[in-house]
This record gives sequence, C-alpha cells and structure tokens, in this order.
Amino acid sequence: MKRIGILTAGGDTPALNATIQGAVVRANQLKVEIFGLIKGFNSLFNPRVPHVHLNPLYQEIPEIDPTKGGTLIGSSRDFVDPEKKEDLDLIVSRLQQLGIEGLICVGGDGTLNGLQPLAERLPTVLAPKTIDNDLGMNYPSEPDEWARVNDSSVKAGYRYKQTTSRAVFDLEHLVNYVTPGYATAVFVSASGVERIRTTAESHRRIAIIEVMGRHSGYIALGSAYGRPDIILVPEHPLDLEHLVERVKQTYDLQKNVVIVCGEGIVDEQGRELGAEIKTTDPSGNVTLSGASEALRAKLIQMIGDRYFQLYRRGESAREAIFTRKVGHTQRGGRPILFDRFYAAQLGAKAVELLIEGRNNAVSILQYNSKKGFHVEGYDANRFRDRWGLIHARHMHPELYDPKLMKPSRLGIEYLMPIFTDAIGEDDMEHMRQTLFAHGNLTQPYHSINTDVNKRIRYFEAPRSAPAKREAEEVLAK
Ligand code: F6P
Repeated sequence: MKRIGILTAGGDTPALNATIQGAVVRANQLKVEIFGLIKGFNSLFNPRVPHVHLNPLYQEIPEIDPTKGGTLIGSSRDFVDPEKKEDLDLIVSRLQQLGIEGLICVGGDGTLNGLQPLAERLPTVLAPKTIDNDLGMNYPSEPDEWARVNDSSVKAGYRYKQTTSRAVFDLEHLVNYVTPGYATAVFVSASGVERIRTTAESHRRIAIIEVMGRHSGYIALGSAYGRPDIILVPEHPLDLEHLVERVKQTYDLQKNVVIVCGEGIVDEQGRELGAEIKTTDPSGNVTLSGASEALRAKLIQMIGDRYFQLYRRGESAREAIFTRKVGHTQRGGRPILFDRFYAAQLGAKAVELLIEGRNNAVSILQYNSKKGFHVEGYDANRFRDRWGLIHARHMHPELYDPKLMKPSRLGIEYLMPIFTDAIGEDDMEHMRQTLFAHGNLTQPYHSINTDVNKRIRYFEAPRSAPAKREAEEVLAK
C-alpha cells in the first residue's frame, strides 16, 4: 500500500488530532502517504474530494498538533447508508481516483456500522473515538444478546432489546476498555462539579449538573472524581422516592446537594426524562435535551417550598434548586495525557492493520492487570448482532450502585487505571503559561482552519485531449 486516506466522522472529541498524528507517524515510518479527507464522509460526497496531504516527503505537516482539541481535517455527521449502493460505489471510485488504497475512519459506533459495505469495496479500518465511551462491548458475546421485539409504533415494526445476560461480567473481558476522548470529557465534567459545589455550599442550594453521554452513563460515572453527592445514570431507571429521600438527608446534613445526571436518564417506565428532539443530524441520531430541567421540575414538586422556608434556606424550591449543563466544553479543548497517548497508539495501530492486509477491522484499547493498557486489532464483524447491526455499549449495571447512587466497587476499579495518572504535568503547565498570556488580549484567535485551508487540494478528473487543449488555449489568452 502506497497511499491511504484518513477521515474523522461524527461528533468530535479532544483527542482526534492525536489519533491523526499517531497514524501519520506510523505512515511515515512505513513510507506510506496519508491523505486527510476534509469533514468526514462529506468530502466523499463531494466530486472534488477536498483533501490534505498530511505527510509530504513522509514528514508530518506542522498543523498536526496532538495537544489541540478538535480535528484539523474537520468532521461532520454525514454517514454512508449501507443501503445506498450507488453512493458507496461512487465514494470508492473517488477514493481510487485519488490513488487511495486503504481508508482509516476515526469514528464511533455509527461509523463502525457503515464499515462493512465500504470494506467490501476498499480495505477499511476504524480507529475509535467518542467521549461517550460507548464504542465497545462489555464481553465478546454481548452482540448475541440482542433480540428483535415487535413494535408497531416504529417504522420498521420492531425494535432491538437486549435480553438478560448469561455472561459473567469481568473488567478484563471488556472489548475496547475505553475510547479516546472519554478521559478528557470526564476531566471537564469532574472539574465542573468541583466548581459548582462551592457555590451550592455558599448559597445553600441544590445543583443538578447534566453531563453528556447520550444513552451511556460512563461520563456521569467518571464525574464521581468531582465528588458529587448523587450520580444518576441512564442505565438505571430513576427511583424518585429514593432520590428525594437521599436529597433531603444530604441537605439536612450539609445544607447543599450536588447531583450529576446523565443526559439520557429514564424514569421507571423507561421513558427518557429529557424531551427528545430530532436534530438535523443526517445519521438520524437524536439529541437529548433537558434531563436536568425535567428532574428539577420533579424535585421542586416533590420537595416543595415549605421544606426550604422551614429551614430559612430560601423562599422557594424553585430558587434553591438549579441546573447547569456541562455541554460542549466536554468535547473541546486540550486533551489530557491519557487521551493523547492512547489515541496516538490507536491511530498508529489502524495504519498497521491496513498494511498487514487486515480489512473491516478496528484498533481497540485493551486493559488487563498484567499488561496494563495495550492496543490490538479486532474484527469489526464481531461487534455485530445476528442481523448485522452494531449497538452502542451501555455502561454495565454492575459498575454502578443504585442504592448509594455512586460508582460501585467494581465501577471504582474500572475508573482507576484510566484516571490515576491521566493528567500530565505538561497539561497543567500549559494552562499556567497560556491562559493568561497577555497576547490573548491583543491578538484575535487564529483558527487552524485558516492554515489547513491553504493546504486543501481538490481532485481534478483527467480531461480528454480536446478539452485539455481548449483549457490550455483559454489559459494562454
Ligand atoms: O456522541 C457525542 C455527543 O457529545 C453526545 O454525548 C451528545 O448527546 C451529542 O454528541 C451531542 O451532539 P451535537 O454536538 O450534535 O449536539
């Protein structure tokens, strides 16, 4: 293989540039050219295929900076519909015209779903990313647990339901222990929790902090490092009575409560608490909005004003209980050391997979107590259920203690290897040196997009001899 392509698909994470750099470093060593495709699959729907040569003369371009969040080659939520065979053929023929012999998609479960039809046409592998940490499996047999149940309310007439597991859950059997981006998202959410705490303490308030993660509670679980009193995750239906009891107990004791809730938390009937609104996201993902607001409304109603007035801690429940979303700050900014280091390794492994002749494969990050973290190659089809679908991983229920509303002992065991040395000294030093640099006040922000734009090249179809002559004549005039 002489030339490969790389694209970053779906929602960004802070570790994407690190993955790209890992891939480029390995490509340089193996003397393979690597082209970055602009804005994920969007570039391949464009006949001009905007792209950047990331390693001219096998040297990485200076814009590649693994300490910068986002992705220098841009991302979009465009995706390849496996049913649209003509689109797929077109995409692959565009890649071939560019001389690209293999493709690395840096993506999550959505991208992995679309991998096989691409791999049938061109060697394609995936390097994982997602702050939600939902790309992976709790154990290798998990896909076999999915069943179709009839449901006339949905277009297909059925939906997927995970049946009761017969597997023993063991942290060392997790497939893809953690995805790049997750550690930084937790770093941001845990720091947010710490900051909200002191204001809740001062003003005797109850804070509900909503973190991202869609239907996965991993970010909420990790936010335990910020020491909230209560954590609510989507994998465990909310027990409101129990919650109110715990809130009151804690408030009676310390005059403030900090609750973290995942954006996808559900009630006892399994209905999402936050309203679900359809986004313009072409892959049909839904954005969950308002879990914290919905929870606040319930607490206001169930605790009532009198409770706060009695203690002279506020006029009303409405005043005492407030919400904050950590939001997209979880997805942006400098990635912490853990993310940078392993993202780079996963990018490098993806290149190796292609060069070794693997196709329809994923580079994954494994952990066990003997070897620590290490990267491996994994067959993408092993993620598929019997109908060929890949499901987002849910945080295993054993990682959470629904009584304490905190990580369980096993949950703590899960988190520790990731976070114990996750922050580099350089991460802190970087902040010390750059945040209050006086140049920040005088110079406008210089976007990476401006620099990369100068390097973008477009595919030009070879012209027929008369058309070429005509073009030359026009130019000569
Ligand atoms: O999948 C990553 C994620 O950040 C989710 O946690 C969140 O629900 C979603 O993306 C938000 O998407 P968008 O940036 O399109 O609003």
